[in-house]
Amino acid sequence: MIILGIETSCDETAAAIVEDGTKILSNTVASSVSLHQKTGGIIPEVAAREQIKCIIPVIEETIKQSSNITINNIDALAVTVGPGLIGSLLVGVETARTLAYVWKKPLIPVNHLVAHIYANWLANSTKRSDQPSPPSEAIPHFPLVALVVSGGHTDLVLIKNHSEIQWIGGTRDDAAGECFDKCARVLGLGYPGGPAISAEAEKYQTLNIKNQIKLPRPMINNKNFDFSFSGLKTAGINEIRKLKSNQQYNNLTIQQLSYEIQEAITDVLVTKTLRAAEKYKVKSVLLSGGVAANSRLREKFSSHPLITNYQLLIPPPSLCTDNAAMVASVAYFNYKPIPWQKITTQPGLTIIGEE
Ligand code: KG4
Ligand code: ZN
Repeated sequence: MIILGIETSCDETAAAIVEDGTKILSNTVASSVSLHQKTGGIIPEVAAREQIKCIIPVIEETIKQSSNITINNIDALAVTVGPGLIGSLLVGVETARTLAYVWKKPLIPVNHLVAHIYANWLANSTKRSDQPSPPSEAIPHFPLVALVVSGGHTDLVLIKNHSEIQWIGGTRDDAAGECFDKCARVLGLGYPGGPAISAEAEKYQTLNIKNQIKLPRPMINNKNFDFSFSGLKTAGINEIRKLKSNQQYNNLTIQQLSYEIQEAITDVLVTKTLRAAEKYKVKSVLLSGGVAANSRLREKFSSHPLITNYQLLIPPPSLCTDNAAMVASVAYFNYKPIPWQKITTQPGLTIIGEE
C-alpha cells in the first residue's frame, strides 16, 4: 500500500511517499528554521505563512521525486492533525482534505507524537523504490518502550501492539527540547538550541578538562516515569547568568555549560527509559523525536551496560526531526481512514489521543 503523508505541525512543511509503512519512496522537508533563527524562536504566525507558501511545492516535489509513482498509484493520504501550532496544522489538514476529496482517496488523521515513534519502522535509506524492506532484526519487537523527546513533548509509552499504547510517564512541565532551546537562547547560541548546544558540548568533550559546573538531574531517582525539565532549565539559566556577571564568561564557559546541560538532560532520559524497559520487561527500546537526534543521547543509550538486554532502535537524525515519512508509516500500521469532512485539527492532542 502506497501512502502520501503530509506534516505541517510546526515549522517544517513535509510530504513523503511510503510503501507498506517501511519503504520511503520519497521524502521532502522544507524548513522555515532560518526565519525563526532571526527571532530566536518560532513565531506561530510566521510559521503558518511559510507553511502556506511551501505546502503545494513540497507535495509536488515529493511526487516528482518518487520514480514511477503517480497520483493514481497513491492508495491513501495521511495528515498530522495534532498536536502542534493551530495555524501550521490547518495548512496541512485543509490541503489533505482537499486532495482526498479531489483525488477520491481515503484520508487517515495522524497523531504527530505517535508518528515520531514510527520513524523506527522506516528503512533508513531514501528515494529508492527498489529498496529492500528493513531486515527483521531492524523491525521493532513488541512489547516495547518508546521515548518521545521533541521540542514540546517528553513522553514514555509502553506499546504492546500497534493499537495498544499506554502512557507510563512524561514531563510535568517543560519538554527536554524546551530545556535545550531556552538554555541555548540565554547562551546566545540561537535557535534551534539542541544542535547548537550539542556542537558546543562536543568541543568541550575533546578538551578533556574536568567539569567544574554541576547541574541537577531532576527526578532521576524517583520510582515513577515522570520528568521535570523546568527546574533544570532555570538552574541552567541561573548558572549562565551567574558566570556572565562574574566576568568569567568566555567561549570555554559556553562549551562547559553546554556540556553540563546536555549531560544532565541525557542522564535523566537514559536512566528513566531503561528503568521503564526493565519494569515492563520489554523486548525493544525505541527513541524518537527531535532530541533523539542528539549524538550524546544516542551514544549513552548505545553504550549503556543494560542495553544488551533489549533491541535498541534509533532512527537516523533526519527521521528524528519532523518529517512526513513517519506520518505515512503510522497511518499504514494503524489504518483507520475517516471521511475528509470529519477531519479537523487537534492542536492539544496528547500521545494517547486525548485533547
Ligand atoms: O521533533 P521535533 O523536530 O519537533 C517537534 O515536534 O517539537 O523536535 C524539535 C526539538 C527542538 O527542541 C530541537 O532543539 C531538538 O528537537 N533537537 C535536538 C537536536 N536536534 C533537534 N536536541 C538535541 N540535540 C540535537 N542534535
Ligand atoms: Zn515533532
